[in-house]
Formats: sequence, C-alpha cells, structure tokens
Amino acid sequence: MKARYLTVAGVLLLLFAIGFSACFNPREGYAPEQPIAFSHQIHSGENEIACGYCHVSPGEGPHSSVPSINTCMNCHGQVATDRPEIQKLTQYWEDGTPIEWVKVHDMPDHVKFSHSPHIQRGIDCAECHGQVNRMDKVEVTNPFNMGWCVDCHREPEHNAPIDCVTCHY
Ligand code: HEC
Ligand code: HEC
Ligand code: HEC
Ligand code: HEC
Ligand code: HEC
Repeated sequence: MKARYLTVAGVLLLLFAIGFSACFNPREGYAPEQPIAFSHQIHSGENEIACGYCHVSPGEGPHSSVPSINTCMNCHGQVATDRPEIQKLTQYWEDGTPIEWVKVHDMPDHVKFSHSPHIQRGIDCAECHGQVNRMDKVEVTNPFNMGWCVDCHREPEHNAPIDCVTCHY
C-alpha cells in the first residue's frame, strides 16, 4: 500500500519535473542577446562563409558546435580591427577567456536529438533553423516541440520512426 503511494508520488514528481523543464525550453521567436554582436547576415549572407566553416561537421556527430575564438581570429587578426566589437573580441582572445555564447536552441534532457540522421537524409539546416544567413541575431523559427518533430517524421516522404524510444531516454 505504502509502496503504491510512493510510486504515485514519484510519477507526479517526474511529470512536474518534465513540465518544469518544458517551461524553459526556448520557444519560437526566442532570440537572446549575445556577448558579442555576431551577425550571420554579415558572415553567411554578405560574405558567403559556409556554415561548416564555423559549425564543424554537424552531420557527423550528435552535436553541432559553436566555433572557438581561434576560428574568428583566422580573419579578425586582420579584418575590421578598428571596430569596437572586434576590439572586444580581440580582448577575449588576449585574455584567453572563452566567449559564453547563450544557447538559442536547447532540448530538455529527456529528449535525444542528433543532427546526423537528419543531415544524412539531406534535410537542409534551413528546414529547422530558418534562413539563418539572413539573421543578424539567431532566432528560433519553428516550435521545436514534440508535435513538430513527430509531424515531420510522419510525412510519407520521410517515414521516420515515431515510437517513444526514438526520441526519449
Ligand atoms: C563565421 C562563423 C559562422 C558561420 C559561417 C555560421 N555560424 Fe552559426 N553561429 C556562429 C556563432 C559564433 C554562433 C553563436 C552566437 C549566435 O548565436 O549568434 C552561431 C550560432 C548558430 C545557431 C544557434 C545555436 C544555438 O545556440 O542554438 C545556429 C542554428 C546556427 N549558428 C546555424 C548556422 C547556419 C545554418 C549557418 C550557415 C547558413 C551558420 N550558422 C554559419 C558562427 C557561425
Ligand atoms: C572567413 C572570415 C571571417 C571569420 C572566420 C569571422 N569573420 Fe567576422 N567578419 C568578417 C568580415 C569580412 C566582416 C565584415 C567586415 C566589414 O564590415 O568590413 C566581419 C564582421 C564582423 C563583425 C562586425 C564588425 C562591425 O562592427 O562592423 C563582428 C562583430 C564579427 N565579424 C565577429 C566575428 C566572430 C565573433 C567570429 C567568430 C565566431 C567571426 N567574426 C569570424 C569575416 C570573418
Ligand atoms: C531536423 C532539424 C534540424 C536540422 C536539419 C538542423 N538542426 Fe541544428 N539543431 C536542431 C535541434 C533540435 C537543436 C537543439 C539540440 C539540443 O539542444 O540538443 C539544434 C542545435 C543546433 C546548434 C546548437 C549546438 C547544438 O548542437 O546543440 C547549432 C550550432 C546547429 N543546430 C546548427 C545546425 C546546422 C549548421 C545545420 C545544417 C548543417 C543544422 N543545425 C541542421 C535541429 C536541426
Ligand atoms: C524536417 C523533418 C524532420 C524534423 C523537423 C525532425 N526530424 Fe527527426 N528525422 C527525420 C528524418 C527524415 C530522419 C531519418 C529517418 C531514417 O533515416 O530512417 C529522422 C531521424 C531521427 C532520429 C533517428 C531515428 C533512428 O533511425 O533511430 C531521431 C532520434 C530523430 N529524428 C529525432 C528528432 C527530434 C527529437 C526532432 C525534433 C526536435 C526531430 N527529429 C525533428 C526528419 C525530421
Ligand atoms: C520524433 C521525436 C519524438 C517522439 C517520437 C516522441 N517524443 Fe515526446 N517529446 C519530444 C520532444 C522534442 C519533447 C520536448 C517538447 C518540449 O519541450 O516542448 C517531448 C516531450 C515529451 C513529454 C513532456 C511533455 C511535453 O510535451 O513537453 C512527454 C511526457 C513525452 N514527450 C512523451 C512521449 C511519448 C509517451 C512518446 C511515444 C508515444 C513520445 N513522447 C514520442 C519528441 C518526441
């Protein structure tokens, strides 16, 4: 009897925790300020730098990544060194302090997402992230909730798995 109550309490606690974490999962329209005013519009748009130059092989591992200052300094050792934001960047570089970029997209811990199966199937970055090359500030342009993931998996042309363990630990 007692064990049963404990189980019920445990389940309620778990649902509460999941609901709580869901509140903090960034939603459509979220576009936080960053420590340096980095613009994809300038880099990927006007200067046509490929996504993969900075986001190393998102198709090969589970996670994409945000570049280190070394990548920036390949260019900004020479380019636009008179601008205040570049002087800020150079200061981080000289101090050896990593830039604490604010995460824009962030799945709750109970979800397993991996870039690789998507990229391998030829799904473009823009299908999920929108036209990043036109953004001065990265913005979440899709709901990034369960319904959004499952709806796309169900589309006949994708026919991707929709059983719970595909996406949950
Ligand atoms: C010159 C380097 C550079 C290039 C090229 C670049 N990015 Fe980025 N990207 C960054 C940096 C730095 C951040 C972190 C700061 C920010 O969010 O603006 C970032 C952040 C992101 C994020 C948000 C990550 C998060 O926290 O959720 C996405 C999505 C993204 N980039 C997609 C792309 C796509 C798609 C392309 C190609 C169209 C691209 N990037 C090209 C440097 C780059
Ligand atoms: C492949 C070369 C290249 C790389 C790598 C690169 N940038 Fe740039 N960046 C440029 C160019 C070109 C401009 C435009 C300069 C101009 O307006 O004359 C620019 C402009 C900028 C500006 C705007 C400067 C201003 O105020 O006008 C910022 C800020 C900036 N970059 C930050 C970064 C950061 C942070 C990284 C690393 C994540 C990075 N860049 C990586 C080439 C690069
Ligand atoms: C099927 C949808 C989808 C596609 C396609 C996709 N992404 Fe993502 N991306 C996501 C999700 C979901 C997250 C959040 C992952 C997390 O929080 O664990 C994310 C996170 C990111 C991040 C933040 C770092 C990280 O891995 O958490 C970057 C950078 C990024 N994506 C870049 C890209 C680039 C570049 C491409 C194209 C090569 C791309 N993405 C294609 C859905 C996608
Ligand atoms: C634009 C359509 C699209 C969206 C949006 C999408 N997926 Fe997918 N997903 C696919 C396709 C296509 C595959 C590849 C299926 C295959 O290879 O059989 C896939 C595969 C996967 C796999 C690997 C499945 C396996 O084979 O084990 C996981 C895990 C996954 N997706 C999770 C997610 C999650 C979590 C989200 C939401 C954050 C998401 N997906 C959003 C289309 C999508
Ligand atoms: C294609 C990927 C995918 C599949 C399949 C999937 N989920 Fe989810 N699920 C997610 C994502 C992503 C979230 C996070 C949503 C958010 O934070 O808004 C989530 C959230 C949840 C939550 C938390 C409540 C909420 O809406 O945030 C529960 C409970 C859940 N899923 C149960 C299930 C069950 C049960 C199944 C099987 C019937 C299942 N999921 C199948 C991707 C998936």
